[in-house]
Amino acid sequence: MSEELNKQIAKRRTFAIISHPDAGKTTLTEKLLLFGGAIHVAGAVKSNKIKKTATSDWMEIEKQRGISVATSVMGFNYEDYKINILDTPGHQDFAEDTFRTLTAVDSVIIVVDVAKGVETQTRRLMEVCRMRKTPVIIFVNKLDREGLDPFDILDELESELKIGVRPLSWPINIGAKFKGVYNIYEHGLDLFTPSKQTVTERIEINDINSPEIDKLVGEADAAKLREDLEIVEGVYPDFDVDAYHRGELAPVFFGSALNTFGVKELLDCFVRIAPEPQPVQAEERVIDPHEETFSGFVFKIHANMDPNHRSCIAFVKVCSGKFERNVNYKHIRLNKQLRFAAPTAFMAQKKSIVDEAYPGDIVGIPDTGNFKIGDTLTSGEEVHFKGLPSFSPEMFKYIENADPMKAKQLDKGIQQLMDEGVAQLFVNQFNGRKIIGTVGQLQFEVIQYRLLHEYGAQCRWEPISLYKACWIDSDDEAELAAFKKRKHQFMAIDRQGRDVFLADSSYVLSMAQRDFPKIRFHFTSEF
Ligand code: G4P
Repeated sequence: MSEELNKQIAKRRTFAIISHPDAGKTTLTEKLLLFGGAIHVAGAVKSNKIKKTATSDWMEIEKQRGISVATSVMGFNYEDYKINILDTPGHQDFAEDTFRTLTAVDSVIIVVDVAKGVETQTRRLMEVCRMRKTPVIIFVNKLDREGLDPFDILDELESELKIGVRPLSWPINIGAKFKGVYNIYEHGLDLFTPSKQTVTERIEINDINSPEIDKLVGEADAAKLREDLEIVEGVYPDFDVDAYHRGELAPVFFGSALNTFGVKELLDCFVRIAPEPQPVQAEERVIDPHEETFSGFVFKIHANMDPNHRSCIAFVKVCSGKFERNVNYKHIRLNKQLRFAAPTAFMAQKKSIVDEAYPGDIVGIPDTGNFKIGDTLTSGEEVHFKGLPSFSPEMFKYIENADPMKAKQLDKGIQQLMDEGVAQLFVNQFNGRKIIGTVGQLQFEVIQYRLLHEYGAQCRWEPISLYKACWIDSDDEAELAAFKKRKHQFMAIDRQGRDVFLADSSYVLSMAQRDFPKIRFHFTSEF
């Protein structure tokens, strides 16, 4: 193992920030970038948001697609650390993108709004983290606004997110009377002064009984703080970094991203406790980042905005060894050697050509159709990374050709958009019709628009009433064959040729589960 490689791995922190829309993810991201010197004014990241309007604004979406290439990965240096934040789309219709991004991170920061508590999208994203045992830190945001009692918030986090919690900071009041937080992790008092740009001053307090606290926040609040902290110490287990790394215990911080309050404390603790790039499970074996030979996988593909050049950027997460420019790597699925003359790094929101990259880094590779989501690149070893599950979509429609002269273009467009992971395609084995499955209505609109503008093809949607698509398998071949025969009208295959049962209601699904006990029904494609 080379020392340089070890050093580079130890300093890297690759993570995503996730939240329900409006909890403050964009604001927090921006403040982290300010600390890293990656941007100089607040508001710079703001434009990277598909606004959460129900009506879709095409110009906006197209604009966002362009901007979000630059901001999908934001790398910056902080102290001795190299930090990579992987951005996830705010709009819930693109949740699938977020799931995939979570396969490329070593940890996650969850932002929760103190007034709203745990909301639906946070709950869903946490399910993915739990499945993958991703370590999470929770940032309770908007303490400058009225909200829930901190003990109630902690109870809610624990029960709704199904994870142990351990506060590492504690608020002194909230809303109009918010005075600051006591930092349990570093023993200090951070007093709140509303400000959008400046950094808070830390007052070191070694003893919680110090009269200094009374002077700073007043006797009543100091007494309440001591009482609260006593309860915290009594109720919550000591912070155990191993339990955090196992994904069982989430440290919790309180603050206000908009006021840059509690953000530096979060970042300082994060770089110290968050895991460095971790081993990754491939189908064949576990791959350790410290191995000398390079390996990586594509977790995201971004289509270029320019419809005349159908080039894309494939986002490759480096899993082991050193990635180098102009060196031959094996594209495992295509069994082909490829070398990349212009790989890009994502530092401080600017794209620049990079000569080398290390585990935890993301490299952008300009591509003209070689890559699909989930593809593996290596120095030569035949390994396949897994862990890019497809989830059963929530909405389904038949896709039909609306312009008979452009059937080829439509097919090509559908295939390429599916390679990019825009939605899922199933082919019904009974009538041969194509079904597109998405997480939300907006995706259908995006597909239709892009097929027209990028491929010159016109599609038409036709309704199909489906409840869920489940991937099925069984150890009992005969039962599987019997099931497929009985349900032949509702059987489809996905793009990998796997059997998918299209259940049209939850009743039908539970009946099928009852009648065919030897068949396993999966709601994700990874099993
Ligand atoms: P998101 O990416 O999770 O969707 O949330 P975002 O950061 O955009 O924040 C959502 C709204 O919450 C924004 O207001 C933002 O200014 C506000 N916000 C974020 N952190 C705090 C905080 O600590 N305290 C308070 N009071 N508000 C906070 P907006 O009105 O939707 O946008 P804007 O007009 O301010 O840009």
